[in-house]
Amino acid sequence: MKPRIRDFLNSESALDTIFLQAWVRTRRDSKEFSFIELNDGSCLANIQVIVDASLACYENIKDITTGAAIEIEGSLVESPGKGQRWEIQASNIRLLGASAEDFPLQKKRHTDEYLRSIAHLRPRSNKYSAIFRIRSSLSHAVHQFFKERAFNWIHTPIITGADCEGAGEMFRVTTLDPDNIPKLNGKPDFEQDFFGKEAMLTVSGQLSVESFCQSLGNVYTFGPTFRAENSNTSRHIAEFWMIEPEMAFADLADDMTLGEEMIKYLIKHVINECAEDLELFAKFVDKTLMQTLENIADNKFVRLPYTEAIEILEKSSHKFEFEPGWGKDLQSEHERYLTEQHFKGPVIVFDYPKDIKAFYMRMNDDNKTVAAMDVLVPSIGEIIGGSQREERYDFLLKRIQEMNFDEKDYWWYLDTRRYGSIPHAGFGLGFERLLMLLTGVSNIRDVIPFPRTPKHLEF
Ligand code: 4AD
Ligand code: MG
Repeated sequence: MKPRIRDFLNSESALDTIFLQAWVRTRRDSKEFSFIELNDGSCLANIQVIVDASLACYENIKDITTGAAIEIEGSLVESPGKGQRWEIQASNIRLLGASAEDFPLQKKRHTDEYLRSIAHLRPRSNKYSAIFRIRSSLSHAVHQFFKERAFNWIHTPIITGADCEGAGEMFRVTTLDPDNIPKLNGKPDFEQDFFGKEAMLTVSGQLSVESFCQSLGNVYTFGPTFRAENSNTSRHIAEFWMIEPEMAFADLADDMTLGEEMIKYLIKHVINECAEDLELFAKFVDKTLMQTLENIADNKFVRLPYTEAIEILEKSSHKFEFEPGWGKDLQSEHERYLTEQHFKGPVIVFDYPKDIKAFYMRMNDDNKTVAAMDVLVPSIGEIIGGSQREERYDFLLKRIQEMNFDEKDYWWYLDTRRYGSIPHAGFGLGFERLLMLLTGVSNIRDVIPFPRTPKHLEF
């Protein structure tokens, strides 16, 4: 591997001959030299290059503008300037790719909204390159977390014939010609479609991963997930990544413990492994970021039954837009009140009323609530949703019937309860919401490379 800027900046000693390819962040000219700040994405910091006006290549220096790609030969020398140990004294520079004059990422600071409209260029800014380095590092850490605990990674399908959550907010996958949809009794004839039946993009890998849990034990899926819900909030996107562990021989308490351990592990990971990038967010995006992260990493998460959560909300003098009440789902404002104002830290709400939760959640003995849990964190609200699963065939079948689902669609899921059914539990952690928590970035569209939201699919 060719050394990159990060390697040079961490070099133990001066180096006589080096070679580097990178992009120009800025160029300043004086009479005798030009100073070029170079970045190659290997780290947040730039390296400074000194180009002597006496060099033959200097005659083309004007082509080396912000955004251009260049390659240089030179030596790594101690920098007399403040703030950096090393700089490069160039002996030769070649232009690899010129940058047009209208390159949008010149000095001026841009709004996040504007940068979203140039999502193909925004990773070239400090803030976005830092986000996406953290995103990558965090993905590795997710796998590391599970590897250390001997969970198997299962690649669940993206195209599905089952509406897992019964939510009905799915994207359709079809090869039928929209101008000529074959009909049968006035309805689209999906038998003529690619799969011979209706096909959708998955909203969750859970039901598929559950069958593997009954073979490999502890498993997880980590991949893209799709929701066609028309929510224009700063916390929803139509395509997002979800981490879904499923544990065999486990109950709701085990589930909460895993969720808490995982969030703490990932916070410690970014603090230790992404310090330089994280500092940018602590300085420019959220001044309280480090305090928030340390507070989450060091304190036990509150575990709060839903019924008590409702009591707290009802007793509070806070004016909510939606009135809280037993049996009603917690609104985002309720979740944020609990975690931000009442407990001032993460809260795991559990044992929700059955009518507001999915059919596969395990019925509690009270016959009113299910063994569900949501982890709520400051600034975001729900970051994890999970449950112990209904492993009893009769209970599961009854729920499917009560929800008026077509039993036939769930034959394979019910089957898993007929052969060696076991107590098991799992959850889904929204990867982008986690990134928001870790960076203090307040809009989910800014932590995913190319955000997909209602009416936005630019490229
Ligand atoms: O609570 P949800 O809908 O749970 C499930 O899908 C379960 N099947 C998970 C499981 O038990 N295996 O979603 C889980 C998490 C949410 O807590 C949230 O963090 C994230 O996924 N999420 C979204 N993130 C971004 N945009 C959206 N539209 C999201 N919908 C859910
Ligand atoms: Mg949820």
